[in-house]
Amino acid sequence: MKRTLLSIALCCLGILMVKAEKTVIRIATQANDLLLQVGDNGRLYQTYFGERLANGSDLQNFAWNVYPASDGAVTRRGWEVYSCSGNEDYFEPALAMLHNDGNPTTYLYYVSHEQKNIEGGTETVILLQDKQYPVSVKLHYVAYTQENVVKTWSEISHQEKKPVTLSAYASTMLYFGADRYYLTEFSSDWAREAQMSSQQLQFGKKVIDTKLGSRAAMHTHPFFEVGIGQPVQEQQGEVLMGTLGWTGNFRFTFEIDNVNNLRVIPGINPYASNYQLAPHQVFTTPEFIFTLSHNGAAQGSRNLQEWARNWSLKDGKGTRMTLLNNWENTAFDFNQQILADLMKEAKKLGVDMFLLDDGWFADGSHERKDDHAGLGDWDVNHAKLPQGIPALCDAADAAGVKFGIWIEPEMVNPNSELFEKHPDWAITLPNRDTYYYRNQLVLDLANPAVQDYVYGVVETILKTDSRIAFFKWDCNSPITNIYSPYLKDRQSQLYIDHVRGVYNVLKRVKENYPNVPMMLCSGGGARCDYEALKYFTEFWCSDDTDPIERCYIQWGFSQFFPSKAMCAHVTSWNKQSSVKFRTDVASMCKLGFDIGLKDLNEQEIAYCQTAVANWKRLQGVILDGTQYRLVSPYETNHMALNYVSADQQKAVLFAYDLHPRFKEILRNVKLQGLNPARQYRVKEINLMPGTASTLEAEGKIYSGDYLMKVGLNAFSSTHMSSRVIELTALGEGR
Ligand code: DGJ
Repeated sequence: MKRTLLSIALCCLGILMVKAEKTVIRIATQANDLLLQVGDNGRLYQTYFGERLANGSDLQNFAWNVYPASDGAVTRRGWEVYSCSGNEDYFEPALAMLHNDGNPTTYLYYVSHEQKNIEGGTETVILLQDKQYPVSVKLHYVAYTQENVVKTWSEISHQEKKPVTLSAYASTMLYFGADRYYLTEFSSDWAREAQMSSQQLQFGKKVIDTKLGSRAAMHTHPFFEVGIGQPVQEQQGEVLMGTLGWTGNFRFTFEIDNVNNLRVIPGINPYASNYQLAPHQVFTTPEFIFTLSHNGAAQGSRNLQEWARNWSLKDGKGTRMTLLNNWENTAFDFNQQILADLMKEAKKLGVDMFLLDDGWFADGSHERKDDHAGLGDWDVNHAKLPQGIPALCDAADAAGVKFGIWIEPEMVNPNSELFEKHPDWAITLPNRDTYYYRNQLVLDLANPAVQDYVYGVVETILKTDSRIAFFKWDCNSPITNIYSPYLKDRQSQLYIDHVRGVYNVLKRVKENYPNVPMMLCSGGGARCDYEALKYFTEFWCSDDTDPIERCYIQWGFSQFFPSKAMCAHVTSWNKQSSVKFRTDVASMCKLGFDIGLKDLNEQEIAYCQTAVANWKRLQGVILDGTQYRLVSPYETNHMALNYVSADQQKAVLFAYDLHPRFKEILRNVKLQGLNPARQYRVKEINLMPGTASTLEAEGKIYSGDYLMKVGLNAFSSTHMSSRVIELTALGEGR
């Protein structure tokens, strides 16, 4: 009896001595942990973001508010997860809200959170509320376990009597504590997309943003890399890679504070965009998608590429059509016969589809002869195409290819019937001289009537002929003369409501026509974000199809996108380069052509036919396999990358010589991702007819181990030359 009483007493004492558990929210993937903790003050803090912790018990070991310095002083306030204006933090907040009584401060306290398993990972939703004002913020995190990618966004709402004004509304905030940080950014321009450059971040803020309205990019793309502790490297080091799913103005703020912590704040650019949020209305921020790699940017890219194909890109697991486009070949100058002949050329090349570009629409006085007129009038141009779209579909049928068509439904030329009927549908200032970008104006997609019209353009075309198999959806102008006739006194919502209007249209298109593949295009690659890509199967990387420039552009985009999403066409840009080189550069992505066969000799045509057949045969490896970037054009005079199929049965190596130097020592290209234990036969493909491979390893068999440790002598010292090498494992299975 005595013993029992003693053990009960000890047990009670034990319970009393157990420290209260901290509320820790673990957002985990296979490789990483992001830990959030409720502080003693009831607010929510990030306590850890890094390699996944092995022991669950360690999650309780983190303190939310102190990091002692060597002199014993407290050097950290705490990394508040969704820091708001007016608090004791003093650095850039995620949220700034002006309440009904004029108070500009918000303090968010943890209320609850839910976590559930979803396909591919876990979803965490955290509810925060202010105690003084009826304001709520829900933080969403979807963690994709295998891919080590997290997608996060926030929902802001309130129940004050009148609208509150939001002047900052980031998607999230992430914090890092390291000695040094290096940013890699992707600056851009027309025909010069995704140019990579790096710099060390120093105290204060570095901001990357755009104000183009109808697209995220042109001057810089909505993605970045941060090297934590060291510059971003391809194969090693900790790298944060992030991208915002928003087809409009975006802003990334990188701020280093007084104690050398870095905060990263991604979101819509609040520039000229104070948002009046009505009571009960929910302001949903765009998704910020990020991965943390511990093996350099290459691993981070593979995480994102895999994630995109599995969970985000429209028809991410489907196949893609090779095509012949007519833009570079004919521009606006074509008729039924010219197009019918091109369809035959498409068939001759062996591609799946003919894609008719700009210039097929608008009749009469608004005829689209060039880019000065006709945008908005989506009836076929009878002067060029008297029998309309059905005749084009007939011609495609007769040639044995599918038929796709170009549209730019969000725009209007003032010289159009649409503008004459609905001048108030265009974004344009009532009281200033109008300035134009490519002679056109952007339609006011904040206006639901305009959304209906734009959706109607797509539907009408698709109803014209059910054989239309593909859209190329262009957007050639940023918003100019920023004023919405529809929004009247709510002009500062235009940038945001416009993009939301675009999504309303795209959602309807996808719901009603889920199986129509679509290419996202924006005067080259100015639209390339993961929100738009929920509705598009692929995007046009650049109007610059010079194969040398394309190597840099494709290298840049490959940091964030799978080759499956990246359209690359063989054209007549850089005629000094061979057709083989141009085709081999395009073949590392989604292959297409935009060239007339009249520009090619018989040998070149035969080469292209073989290259198309090879690409189609290897599409599963190039588009669905794992990509390994091997040799960077930024660091050498060459470029190389290889793809490996999931079963490691097949690999394709692309090796390009850009501008080799005289007497340059050529290093072997060491492959990656092969099965070291298996034997692979090496075969150079895409050879010009009548030429034999000069590759030393041609036809030989090597182990995966050898190919990865010793490599192949795949480079040459000839300017603008290339090799495509197929590797096939002997025998079956792994
Ligand atoms: C810009 C695109 O990038 C081009 O490929 C082409 O479609 C033109 N627009 C047509 O106007």
